[in-house]
Order: sequence, then C-alpha cells, then structure tokens
Amino acid sequence: MDLLETANKFLFMLEEPFVGRHEEALVITLSLITGEHVVLIGEPGTAKSAMARRSADLLDAKFFKYLLTRFTEPSELFGPLDIASLRRGVYKRITSNKLPEAEIAFLDEIFNANSAVLNSILSIMQERILYDGYSEIKVPLWTLMGASNKIPEEPELEALYDRFLFRHNVKHVNEEYWEALLDASWEIEKEIYGNIEKIMDMESVRLLNSMLFKVDLNEIKGKLLRLFMILGEKGLYLSDRRKGKILKAIAAHALLEKRFHAIESDLVVLKYTAPKDIEDFEKIEAILMDELKTKDRIMRELEEIEANIRNFGKNLDSMQSFDPRLLEIYKNLKVSKTKVQNLVQDVEDADVRRKAEEINDMIESISQEIMIKLNM
Ligand SMILES: Nc1ncnc2c1ncn2[C@@H]1O[C@H](COP(=O)(O)OP(=O)(O)O)[C@@H](O)[C@H]1O
Ligand SMILES: [Mg+2]
Repeated sequence: MDLLETANKFLFMLEEPFVGRHEEALVITLSLITGEHVVLIGEPGTAKSAMARRSADLLDAKFFKYLLTRFTEPSELFGPLDIASLRRGVYKRITSNKLPEAEIAFLDEIFNANSAVLNSILSIMQERILYDGYSEIKVPLWTLMGASNKIPEEPELEALYDRFLFRHNVKHVNEEYWEALLDASWEIEKEIYGNIEKIMDMESVRLLNSMLFKVDLNEIKGKLLRLFMILGEKGLYLSDRRKGKILKAIAAHALLEKRFHAIESDLVVLKYTAPKDIEDFEKIEAILMDELKTKDRIMRELEEIEANIRNFGKNLDSMQSFDPRLLEIYKNLKVSKTKVQNLVQDVEDADVRRKAEEINDMIESISQEIMIKLNM
C-alpha cells in the first residue's frame, strides 16, 4: 500500500472505535509523522489512555507504556540496576523492555513525574539520550505520548510540558452523541477490537517523515507569519522553537491529505501546537475559524446555503406563474451560486467539492423550474 494511504488508514483505524475522537486521532498521527511528542489533556474518562493504547496496538513498534505516580522510581522507567555489574564496580541498567529501548512510549499521568525521573525524561525527549550515572545511552525514542487531566502549574514541570510540540485538549462528547457513545462503549467493553492487525511499522513512519521535506510550503508562509502576529496581538505567544517546528506539522497535515504543497487549511495545525494555557485552546480555535478557510467552516456555510435553497424549492410548488416572488428567488439563487463559487475557490477537498456540486445542481434545476413558470 502507498505510504500516504497507510497513514490515512492508521488515522481511520485509530479513531474507529471511539465517538468524536477524530482530532485526537489526527494529532497522534501528526506527532508520529513528524517524530514529535504529543500530550492529551482532559478530564478523566475521555478516552485519552484508550487512544494511546490503541495506537500501540496499531503500530508495529517497540512500545513502552507506564502510568506515572508521584512515587515512580527511575528503575520502573529505565530498568533496574544490574547488580552483577555493580559488584564489578560498573554502574549499568538492565534496560530491556523499558523506556530506553522504546521507539514509541506512552506515559500516562505524565505530570506526576517527580524530580527523580524528570531530568532523565527531559533529556530522552529532547536529545534522545539517557544520562545515567557515568554513561550516556542513545535511545531510539521517536514519539512520546503523554496524557494528563490538567496542565501542570509547577514551574519544574513547565519544561516537560514545553517539550510536547502537540498539545490537545480532549473534551467530553456533546449531548447529541451520547447515544452513539453508549453503543461504542458497549462494543469496546465486548472487546470486539481486541485482536487487531498492525497497520504501520516504524520504517513506514520514518519514510513518511522523510517525505515531509518534499512538501512545498511557500504558499502558506505569509499567512502563517500573519497568524503569529494576530495571535501575538491577543497575548498568545509561541516560543521560537515552537514557531520553527510548526512547519513540520503543517507539512504533515498536507501529506495526510495527499498533497505535496501546503495550503491555507493546513494551518489548522496551529490549533494543536500554539495553545499553552487551558483557555488558549478555545481562543486559538476561534481565531483560526475566522482566519482560515477550514473545511469545517466551509462545509457549515455550504450546508446553510443548501438549506436555504431547499426552502426555495419547497415554496416553488405553491407559486403561480405570475408570482412576484419568483424573480426574487431567481436572483437569490444567482447570489447563492456566486457564494458557493467563492467559498470553494482553491479548495481541493473532495467532500467540499462534492457538496458544492450538489448545491450547484440544485440551483440549476430550481432555476429551470422558475424559467418555465416565468415563461422565459
Ligand atoms: N469518546 C469515546 N468513545 C468511545 N468510548 C469512550 C469515549 N470516551 C470514553 N470512552 C470509554 O471510556 C473508557 C475509559 O476511558 P480512558 O481511556 O480510561 O479515559 P482517560 O484516560 O481519559 O481517563 C474507554 O476505554 C472507553 O471504553
Ligand atoms: Mg487515563
């Protein structure tokens, strides 16, 4: 299978058992393609751990999972000291199946990290090196996933929080999805997703990563800089490190949509990379909604136009050929047609294109009915 296809299948399968967890699956997939770290922040019971565990099931990679408590000791994460070596005066850990050997790691309740493990986690995340006693161990860690119910307030944990390029606020599912949630939880409890095949291996992940640098970003750079300004004006600042890394996230988003050039809607990744404080998540989402032609927004506007046109169509039947409202509707249809054209201009998304075509067909057929009634 084509690599971009594989990445999309992974995203699809990751999201599959859950209700309303598309964005969560997306940020996890983006973090894998970019080789960056991702943290999910949200109230208990919002499927954060379940999503990370499912990523482990779908990925053919060396995975390490651990639930941190305030009392977690270094040996639990990095392996126990090798006593035999110690007797010979050599300080060494037995790292097999522990974090130093993991390509992908999931640390649940990550901000429980205490001072005994924190520095080692930081250097593993940042430099991919474990400084331990007198030795430096190079580790193969590619992506670390973290989960937590809140953003840490302690200054010593800020450095840890900052290491996550991707941060996502996981919210409860909306009321209209509660019924679906019941069914989904039932299926999950039944463990119908228990025996799943691996979708993607680390070689594919690395190849996808190397494809990032083939994505043409020129078209969006101006807009990105403008967004940095707009965010800054609202007091939302990104560290220089974050600003630089965002390009990778943008390129990964384009790749997932099978494009080798970034377009404005790829800038939606700012939503997962720019927020810091909990209130930033919604603020930034609102700014992006205003500033970007994002798919959701375009679809919503198209649906509104569609509903209006449908109403015109319904009213038409009751109108006689001399009804003055006919001309009014005819004019409205023309306006709608232009609106649709402007909305979908430069948008390549297949769903958007299809919706626009459907609306255009509707406009066409209602216009013809009007012509007939008007004897034009
Ligand atoms: N959006 C959802 N869709 C389907 N099941 C869900 C959803 N949210 C929660 N669940 C169910 O609740 C369980 C508990 O979620 P869990 O991953 O432990 O939450 P968290 O780690 O966020 O506290 C999941 O295994 C799943 O069965
Ligand atoms: Mg959990």
